Amino acid sequence: MNKIKKAVIPVAGLGTRVLPATKSIPKEMLPVMDRPAIDYVVEEAWEAGIEHIVFVTGRGKGAIEDHFDIAFELEANLQHKNKTAILADLKQHLPKAGSMSFVRQQSPFGLGHAIWCARDIIGDEPFAVLLPDVLIKGKLGALAQMTEAFTKTGGNIIAVDEVPERDVNKYGIIDPVTQDGDLYKIRGMVEKPAIDSAPSNLKITGRYILQPEIFDLLADQQSGSGGEIQLTDAMARMMKSQPFTALKYHGVDFDCGDRLGYLRAIAHFALDHKDLGEDARNILVTALRQNQ
Ligand code: G1P
Repeated sequence: MNKIKKAVIPVAGLGTRVLPATKSIPKEMLPVMDRPAIDYVVEEAWEAGIEHIVFVTGRGKGAIEDHFDIAFELEANLQHKNKTAILADLKQHLPKAGSMSFVRQQSPFGLGHAIWCARDIIGDEPFAVLLPDVLIKGKLGALAQMTEAFTKTGGNIIAVDEVPERDVNKYGIIDPVTQDGDLYKIRGMVEKPAIDSAPSNLKITGRYILQPEIFDLLADQQSGSGGEIQLTDAMARMMKSQPFTALKYHGVDFDCGDRLGYLRAIAHFALDHKDLGEDARNILVTALRQNQ
């Protein structure tokens, strides 16, 4: 069975739900504690054994590319001032040369179209997709849990989690048939269904392992929900010819494309911070007390 070596991270989205914070910086660069949000997603990919990441980017997103490059003047300056710990952290997070590619999605036609823009770099092998709005905290990263499951199931895997019924219209929702531990066999999926017609309350959480045949389906996928070319619609078509499994991963997810989801992420990652977690706890508790 093929190992999953490449991942696509679509970063062309405008971040309209978190304006005005994202008016002049990419939403993926908003800090969560002391790292930009994108760092957590990239670390999750490396942890799962990914060797190459394809960013599908767009206008105004150059800061992401710069973030993963050497900043020569900055490093020389840190060296000169003997700020060795900060310098070591920068170097530690620098990706291996040649392990990232950047392609542009020229028009905002939707997530399905963004993934299709990566087709030439992915080629003919199964690959992962990580949506950068979604940060997932877990003992083992969600994608690593999926690649582990993939060694048994093969085919296509999507990460799912329960969502309150009032929120099903904000997500892709699966139609499960049977459950075996954390794995569901599924017979369908639908993007942002109306609350009264949703097939379940299991949302697609923004992590996927897909077979390359998805690109042929995306090439002629018609617009769906929100007038956009939806990945969910292409996956629903591909289910007719390929096995799909849903994995209920172990972890907590945060939708950082949403203001309160972003706040939750900051609180959790601050509390988990290896050096500053204890201080963060005191700050949060004090803030609650002072705000009464
Ligand atoms: C996308 C997907 C959706 C998924 C969601 C997860 O929607 O289309 O299926 O449930 O991400 O966050 P978006 O949030 O881009 O509207």
